[in-house]
Amino acid sequence: MKKNSFLEKFVVNPGGNLQGVFRVPGDKSISHRAIMLGAIAEGLTRVNGFLEGEDTLATLAVFKALGVSIDGPSSGQVVINGVGLHGLQAPSRALYLGNSGTSMRLLTGLMAGQGFSVEMTGDVSLSRRPMRRVTVPLSEMGARIEMNDEGTPPLKIQGGQSLQAINYKMPVASAQVKSCLLLAGLYANGTTCVTEPAPTRDHTERMLAGFGYQLKRDTGRVCLEGGGQLRGMLIDVPADISSAAFFMVGATIAEGSNILLEHVGINPTRIGVINILREMGADIRLLNEREVGGEPVADIRVCSSQLHGIEISREQVPLAIDEFPALFIAAACAEGQTILRGAEELRVKESDRIQVMADGLRTLGIVAEPTLDGMVIQGGQFKGGVINSYGDHRIAMAFAMAALCAKEPIIIEDCANVATSFPNFVNLAQVAGIDIKWQKNGDDDADL
Ligand code: S3P
Repeated sequence: MKKNSFLEKFVVNPGGNLQGVFRVPGDKSISHRAIMLGAIAEGLTRVNGFLEGEDTLATLAVFKALGVSIDGPSSGQVVINGVGLHGLQAPSRALYLGNSGTSMRLLTGLMAGQGFSVEMTGDVSLSRRPMRRVTVPLSEMGARIEMNDEGTPPLKIQGGQSLQAINYKMPVASAQVKSCLLLAGLYANGTTCVTEPAPTRDHTERMLAGFGYQLKRDTGRVCLEGGGQLRGMLIDVPADISSAAFFMVGATIAEGSNILLEHVGINPTRIGVINILREMGADIRLLNEREVGGEPVADIRVCSSQLHGIEISREQVPLAIDEFPALFIAAACAEGQTILRGAEELRVKESDRIQVMADGLRTLGIVAEPTLDGMVIQGGQFKGGVINSYGDHRIAMAFAMAALCAKEPIIIEDCANVATSFPNFVNLAQVAGIDIKWQKNGDDDADL
């Protein structure tokens, strides 16, 4: 389903602070993987806390189209009747993945090993995103994939190819590429190994192990042998640290704030946002740390505090890769300069997050200098203004937080894609203390 997302905007009045106890929606990365691995497992997989956002619903719809019987989602519960590694069926039409890069890249690996052909398409943003990073190693494994000359979707994957295992050193630190190759490796002859240049999120590895699949993990390297079996399991999806990040930043920058974010995933490959904010002086405490279904989880207490600028260390970049829009807002509220380098990947996310954030920060009166691989931000005072989020969910939510410290209202255009990862964002933001309205189709009524 395509939409006129540019018509939807957030109107956010300045001031306020954040209070209360919240649970943000389920982790997007884990929700995608729960559907994918549950579908190719033997037997039932029950998922609690599934993210009912557009991206993960796109993945769910794909597996229904591939002949998998799935009940739900209903209040975050999904039951998948796994068909086994070789039970997927040819879809009757192209698979539409909306805005979701994770769906496209992971599914490319999974589809490369099937006996039937598929075509995968996406929205305008997804149709611009680079796919050679997955198609090049998959072709080395024997996959046959067609796409346009720019290396972007739609992708046509020819079925019935016999895949050979690969020993692949990734040139970019990407969990999507790693996961894509591991999924293809399930269907390959021999042992597939992927080496990463820096640690990236390891939900695929953890979940494969939970499904009873043998993996060998050493520092920076994971290997698996094709042709095994996954056994259905129970998956408890923690709240998404990437969604919690907006509220962590909001509570930090808005004086007098005190919030508790419940049951948030704190996988060490995801906590760059906490490490960076703490180094800037944030007051963030992890409470009740526990492990749920192979993933570490905690409740997170955040109180406001004065931040100072830092030079963000390069090793934190892949651990906070989705959180930079929010972190740039924090940097704009810090005393002094914040420097980010080594983050060129931000230029190929749902939007060019370096350029779009720099443009928005400048509109609000902040001195922000984009560089090829990062940004230099001078802390200052937000005035009001109109921001174009370019349909990027995380840009829209980040600037909504900026209003907490702004002098005048902030209007954020092209916000419909917030529903890809955080469908109840406006509602939660209101309850927490932000004066935000979601205007649809140009009318003045807030429509939640
Ligand atoms: C994801 C990995 C990251 C991240 C994306 C989700 C995943 O992408 O930006 O939102 O679920 O594997 P890269 O691995 O390409 O950096």
